[in-house]
Amino acid sequence: MAHSGRAAGGPPLPPQRRSLQQRFGPHAKARNGRGTVRRLLALYARWKRELILVVGLTVLSTVASLAVPYLLGLAVDCFRVGGVDRTALAALLVLLVGVIAAQWLGNWGRRRWMEIISQRMVTQIRRDCFAKLGKLPLSYFDRHPHGDTMSRLVSDADNVSTVAAESVTQLFSSLLTVAGALTIMVFLSPLLTLVALATVPVIALCTRLISQRSRTLYRRQADELGRLSGLVQETLSNGRTVKLYHRQAEVLEQFDHINEVLCTTSVKAQVCAGLLSPLVNMVNHLGFALIACTGGVLALHGVVRIGLVVSFLGYSRQLGRPLNSIAALFSSIQQAVAGAERLFDILDEPEMPADAPEAVSPQTVRGEVAFEDVSFSYEPEKSVLEHVSLRVEAGEVAAFVGETGAGKSTLINLLTRAYEPSAGVIRLDGIPLEQYSRASLGRCFSVVLQDTAFFRGTVLENLRYARPEATKDEVMQAAKLANAHGFIQRLPQGYDTIISGAAEELSQGQRQLLAIARALVSQAPILILDEATSNVDTTTERRIQQATMRLLKGRTCFLIAHRPSTIRRADRIFVVGKQGIMESGTYDELMKKRGVYWSMLQ
Ligand SMILES: Nc1ncnc2c1ncn2[C@@H]1O[C@H](COP(=O)(O)OP(=O)(O)OP(=O)(O)O)[C@@H](O)[C@H]1O
Ligand SMILES: [Mg+2]
Repeated sequence: MAHSGRAAGGPPLPPQRRSLQQRFGPHAKARNGRGTVRRLLALYARWKRELILVVGLTVLSTVASLAVPYLLGLAVDCFRVGGVDRTALAALLVLLVGVIAAQWLGNWGRRRWMEIISQRMVTQIRRDCFAKLGKLPLSYFDRHPHGDTMSRLVSDADNVSTVAAESVTQLFSSLLTVAGALTIMVFLSPLLTLVALATVPVIALCTRLISQRSRTLYRRQADELGRLSGLVQETLSNGRTVKLYHRQAEVLEQFDHINEVLCTTSVKAQVCAGLLSPLVNMVNHLGFALIACTGGVLALHGVVRIGLVVSFLGYSRQLGRPLNSIAALFSSIQQAVAGAERLFDILDEPEMPADAPEAVSPQTVRGEVAFEDVSFSYEPEKSVLEHVSLRVEAGEVAAFVGETGAGKSTLINLLTRAYEPSAGVIRLDGIPLEQYSRASLGRCFSVVLQDTAFFRGTVLENLRYARPEATKDEVMQAAKLANAHGFIQRLPQGYDTIISGAAEELSQGQRQLLAIARALVSQAPILILDEATSNVDTTTERRIQQATMRLLKGRTCFLIAHRPSTIRRADRIFVVGKQGIMESGTYDELMKKRGVYWSMLQ
């Protein structure tokens, strides 16, 4: 009988053996346990042949472990008052060695194959979930914190694989062992079976009481650890703010408090869980003694053989152990089912609408954009844009101004199809956006967003992100236009310098220059600059502007900027206000009109 070394009735794994991720992982209870289990089993079905092997190996190891006490009993009976039956004893010993070897082989094989199946299954789920993330609309990520999604893919998946590999077969073999041991015990001696079962209620009661208490304590411990890690993470990521406002002492005090609570809770949890094993052992020993005494008396009166008593003692041991672990297994299986459910939740999320079957992928796009009566809200009942209509001709530079939070970036989100409008149509060259294939639409835009994001890799790789086939000369040309060439060359390895995703080794302005260069490399027909030069000094900004204007000839450009100087030369200026476009026209027209734009400049 395999024994994982778990504390009977305790939590699934002692906390020191659980990864940090698991400890901080959510402890949600499964909402639709049965459905989830059925779905998991359906996934298992892919490895039918391996599963049959696992079942066979489990039966082999269980039967072998059940045979051991019986053979031992027979071996004892070889010793008689008159002498020893050597041949029978030798044969039994050889058989015993064989059976023990079979038991070991069965256990090893079972674990190996189950581990392979479970890991493969979880690898598949994890892959499916990761692929799914790419198909989810951005609104999904607005609703779910990144940390939560990450913990689903990492720790929940890990939970599922651990439990799937260990507990499921253990549960199966435990049930098999209990059933087998009980049957043989009844067959050997019904009377002694009753004596052996006398301790079961006591063990069950101890297990139940202690495991309930320790599970609560472990959960509390995990919560405290979660709080502690939250504090550490926040302090690390906001380190500068903490220092700026001299809050180190307060942070330390908070830390000390949580750390202290964590310490006491951990001690309580460990002590409580640690109580069970010795207690169960003691009851088991008592039971053992009870069987030994009763068995001895019965043997003396010639009711049973001595060997039978020996076998019986063996079975009573085998009965106790799985009974204890079954309760523990149930709770860990429950936790894994909850984890699986969280993974399935991701898989069940509605995806972004797929490309229409007749989707177009034009080779060239002129870049004429029209919003027709477009309305949009990120959250229901909190309208951001209402009935917006606007038109930008191909090759025009359209500037968008408006107060913070007016919806300028939202217009860009809709144009690039990061979000879908709730009403109205957006057309590119007269064709509604949703009739383009997503890939071809992606090639229409070079975008510099308000918050720049890069990927870990060299500067060159990052600049080629939108067009990997760009030559190094082209990249350098774009970097020169964006005024980024100079500082890139001063980096330790120039264009081959590795930058991190956050590019924290660069200044904010440098990051913007890099993002502009990346957009220029992509050479898409429509350039979108959302506050692209807000962190750059005015001289550099002017230089970039002149360069991009030259480059922009024939391309449509959407320019969002707060500085009036930046947009003065735009062909058309749109003033975005409460839920829509309030004014539009050329700079001169708007100044003459003395409306919103004019008053913004005063
Ligand atoms: N992902 C989002 N989820 C929910 N609401 C959002 C989201 N993004 C923006 N909003 C809300 O939509 C409104 C418009 O935001 P938007 O980013 O378009 O403003 P903006 O005009 O670009 O402002 P700024 O000049 O500060 O960049 C704001 O009220 C904002 O709170
Ligand atoms: Mg914005």
